[in-house]
Amino acid sequence: RYDAGPYVPRGADLAGLREAAAGCQGCPLYREASRTVFGSGAASARVLLVGEQPGDQEDRRGEPFVGPAGGVLMRAVDEAGIDPTETYVTNAVKHFKFEPRGKRRIHKAPSLREISACKPWLREELRLVEPEVVVTLGATAGKALLGSSFRVGEQRGVALPLPSLDGAGQDGAERAEGVLVATIHPSAVLRAEDSDRAAMYAGLVADLRVAGRLLR
Ligand code: URA
Repeated sequence: RYDAGPYVPRGADLAGLREAAAGCQGCPLYREASRTVFGSGAASARVLLVGEQPGDQEDRRGEPFVGPAGGVLMRAVDEAGIDPTETYVTNAVKHFKFEPRGKRRIHKAPSLREISACKPWLREELRLVEPEVVVTLGATAGKALLGSSFRVGEQRGVALPLPSLDGAGQDGAERAEGVLVATIHPSAVLRAEDSDRAAMYAGLVADLRVAGRLLR
């Protein structure tokens, strides 16, 4: 069974978790990826943003959202009135999954098993950061927190109860423990047709504004 749980130290702070996550072999993705890409930001962050998985650049540099998608994201965060220094950014899956194509490495979506295996890391990040708002970016992050029936098109841009990941089964949970706003992935803006891009970006900013307004 794939499971990061046995690699997660008890009672660690974010630095301790990050260090332990570097050695995670809870699913097979560690074999091809260069390194674990753990979350980044302060434990005092008010907004916790969850992406899918590190991309090519993130895998090389060991930090989340430092590539093109991160550029779009941070511009949108700022435009939505959220202070980027008050954010913690992470991913549902902490290793880059890809298919080699010539010299390039093409992103592959993580499976539900891989998303589920990696959840113990996300659960600890949520527990330690205790953000006022969680923002999920795209389908994978939404599924990680809301279950496999999550559909970004139907659930984006509104305040939803954040389910607890504690003791939850495969598919989400019972107790609400905060608030979550779902939106699209910034990569979708980059992949969009020229004619759609501005509207998609505006939608991302609008959803992030909903999150920003929830900050007390
Ligand atoms: N896309 C993601 O989902 N996460 C990253 O860290 C980079 C790109």
